[in-house]
Amino acid sequence: MKLKNKVAIITGGTSGIGFAIAKLFSEEGAKVVIASDKSENGNDIAKSISSDCLFVQTDVREESQIKNLLSETIKKFGKLDILINSAGVYSLSQSDIAQMPITDFDWIMNVNFKGVFLTTKFSIPELLKTKGNIINISSALGIVPEKESAIYCASKSAVIMFSKAIALQFPEKGLRVNSICPGPIDTPMLHRAFPEKKEYDEFLKKNPMQRAGTPEGVAKLALFLASEDTGYITGGVYTIDGGQSLR
Ligand SMILES: NC(=O)c1ccc[n+]([C@@H]2O[C@H](COP(=O)([O-])OP(=O)(O)OC[C@H]3O[C@@H](n4cnc5c(N)ncnc54)[C@H](O)[C@@H]3O)[C@@H](O)[C@H]2O)c1
Repeated sequence: MKLKNKVAIITGGTSGIGFAIAKLFSEEGAKVVIASDKSENGNDIAKSISSDCLFVQTDVREESQIKNLLSETIKKFGKLDILINSAGVYSLSQSDIAQMPITDFDWIMNVNFKGVFLTTKFSIPELLKTKGNIINISSALGIVPEKESAIYCASKSAVIMFSKAIALQFPEKGLRVNSICPGPIDTPMLHRAFPEKKEYDEFLKKNPMQRAGTPEGVAKLALFLASEDTGYITGGVYTIDGGQSLR
């Protein structure tokens, strides 16, 4: 077991990539806390991961809710070793920026970037005690642009650069920070963006490998980066995108 006795917080852990990471980390011996803004089924999803998995309803945009997430984690498990930021939102409404509502900008930037800033800020004191690590789920669209999602691309680029800068803040204390940049992954997010099968299939044809990746594949990459075997890796940016970021 690669994560025996480790404690991990996984934002967005109720769905898609975050859920797959929570499940794999739990199978590898970690105590897991999942967080998302939606209350429905959170406790049932936690139970489906393991009997001691904790769900804490948390909107990652809200400072007080992040503080609560940290205090509930420490109360139940006594420490924090791994922070995974997987909570995120995507929309294809940004091809005409002149027409885009400013509320859309705030929503995307605040969930995708401010959320990562807040969880990082409030987790660092605990992660310094355990020589822990942070893995931020950015996107291939943080590396290559997509015209329909300009603000999403910018938010994910911000996550990559923020992760690199934070990786430089405490390396001698053992705190590591890495980013994962998925391409299209078969999760509810991708199906919400392309609800019709025909447009989903058309979209995937644009990917060099012409298919979506799996959330379980991303979880295996997260496990690789979180484990002590790779304790010399920090500031890394890992694509898992079927070649999307090569174009
Ligand atoms: N699926 C893809 O194709 C893909 C590709 C590249 C990057 N990503 C990134 O991977 C991450 C996970 O995406 P996914 O595909 O699993 O999507 P998903 O929609 O299945 O899961 C997203 C999770 O984020 C949570 N969330 C949304 N807003 C939140 C908020 N304000 N506070 C707390 N939680 C919130 C949701 O409740 C859900 O649990 C995201 O950051 C996404 O941008 C996904």
